[in-house]
Amino acid sequence: MAAPAPESVGLSSTGYESPQRCRECHEEIYQAWSHTSHANALFDPIVRTYMQTIEQPGECFACHTTGYDTGSGQFVLAGVTCEACHGPYRPQHPQESMAIATSPDFCGSCHATTKTEWESSNHGQVGVICLDCHEVHTQNTRTDAVEETLCALCHKTEIQSDVHTEHAAELRCIDCHLDRPDEIPVKGDGATGHSFTATRDNCDACHPDK
Ligand code: HEC
Ligand code: HEC
Ligand code: HEC
Ligand code: HEC
Ligand code: HEC
Ligand code: HEC
Ligand code: HEC
Ligand code: HEC
Repeated sequence: MAAPAPESVGLSSTGYESPQRCRECHEEIYQAWSHTSHANALFDPIVRTYMQTIEQPGECFACHTTGYDTGSGQFVLAGVTCEACHGPYRPQHPQESMAIATSPDFCGSCHATTKTEWESSNHGQVGVICLDCHEVHTQNTRTDAVEETLCALCHKTEIQSDVHTEHAAELRCIDCHLDRPDEIPVKGDGATGHSFTATRDNCDACHPDK
């Protein structure tokens, strides 16, 4: 799978500093980010375990580190750090802006399967993007998906049909609309349910007798 070349989002590939540098002025964002799986993408014990079974872990660094160079096989920083998404620190910043890439193509350079699923969905076709639903630094969904407020932000009328009113009290939208397998999505190529389709086939899981 292709490494997300920083050049592809208009960033250069040398001169990385570290999240500590950004923290000097962006403490709040640093705190939010530091607890996420992006920050821990190379320290995650499950990732470590899988990596030990791989002959050339270099191929893993492309998406689990910052500043990976395919030529040398080296990376600059562990994890998906600030500079993986905003590019290497620019010495004149903040007078000079840092890059911000918001497109699904950018997220999809690492989240390949999720992007493909999303593209095939109505969300992809009408342009409801990753960042409409995800807060990138905390990695939370924008409003609590568990409380259903996220989907309800945009869908009020569609959810008056029988299948919806029968379950309104017991189930969350994503119980039926986000079909995720249990296996670990190594390499970001496991299914993540981002087509958000619910079919009548899903009914059997909870109503096997009908
Ligand atoms: C996974 C990619 C990613 C990582 C990692 C990341 N950012 Fe961001 N950042 C973004 C995106 C995308 C936006 C635009 C947010 C939006 O439009 O919702 C953004 C916006 C910002 C902004 C503009 C103000 C704001 O809050 O929208 C600042 C400042 C910022 N990031 C700093 C940081 C710092 C500091 C870190 C590390 C501690 C960091 N970012 C880590 C992707 C990332
Ligand atoms: C010397 C203080 C300082 C440092 C260090 C710093 N920033 Fe900023 N940054 C600012 C200020 C001030 C702004 C403008 C106000 C705001 O959006 O917070 C800003 C804005 C931004 C923005 C919004 C777009 C823009 O450029 O206006 C991003 C993204 C960003 N910073 C990322 C980073 C990242 C990533 C790092 C570390 C590699 C970093 N900053 C280090 C002070 C700093
Ligand atoms: C440089 C590669 C890279 C980029 C770019 C990237 N991610 Fe990630 N992301 C990862 C990796 C790797 C993980 C999993 C880390 C782990 O679990 O060890 C992850 C995890 C996540 C998770 C949490 C998954 C979970 O199961 O908890 C969310 C949500 C997420 N990313 C959203 C985004 C969004 C939205 C964007 C675009 C703004 C983005 N990512 C850009 C590499 C990336
Ligand atoms: C319509 C809203 C929506 C859009 C658009 C969306 N997501 Fe999600 N995403 C969610 C919800 C809801 C969850 C589940 C959160 C939970 O379980 O609490 C999720 C979960 C995830 C996860 C964790 C996957 C897992 O198996 O646990 C990743 C990674 C992710 N999204 C990345 C992305 C990326 C990348 C994009 C854009 C290509 C995107 N999402 C677009 C709503 C959205
Ligand atoms: C930012 C607004 C927004 C959010 C948040 C959002 N959607 Fe959507 N959704 C849309 C739009 C716009 C469409 C396409 C127009 C339509 O078909 O109504 C759509 C289409 C859909 C469709 C396909 C409808 C069809 O006609 O085929 C489903 C299913 C769906 N959304 C489920 C969800 C679920 C589940 C969530 C929460 C995880 C969610 N949406 C969150 C805006 C949103
Ligand atoms: C019990 C499972 C279930 C739950 C829970 C559920 N849905 Fe659905 N949803 C379906 C099925 C099945 C369909 C396919 C059309 C139908 O049969 O009504 C559907 C269709 C949709 C559509 C497309 C409607 C259209 O006109 O084609 C949207 C949008 C939607 N659901 C949003 C939501 C939202 C938002 C929630 C949470 C408030 C939710 N759903 C909860 C099963 C569910
Ligand atoms: C193309 C980018 C990419 C490459 C290359 C990649 N990963 Fe990942 N990896 C991801 C993304 C994105 C996620 C988050 C998946 C999700 O939640 O949807 C992830 C998640 C994982 C997870 C699950 C972590 C958890 O806590 O659930 C493991 C384990 C993992 N990767 C191991 C590896 C190993 C080992 C390699 C090298 C053989 C590798 N990855 C190469 C993008 C990548
Ligand atoms: C995640 C589990 C789950 C899924 C998936 C699910 N249901 Fe339900 N359903 C429930 C629960 C819980 C209740 C409320 C308790 C009860 O009455 O059985 C319920 C109640 C109902 C009821 C009203 C009570 C009854 O038994 O007559 C109907 C009708 C129904 N479901 C049909 C469906 C259909 C059609 C689907 C597929 C679109 C579906 N369900 C998918 C869990 C689920």
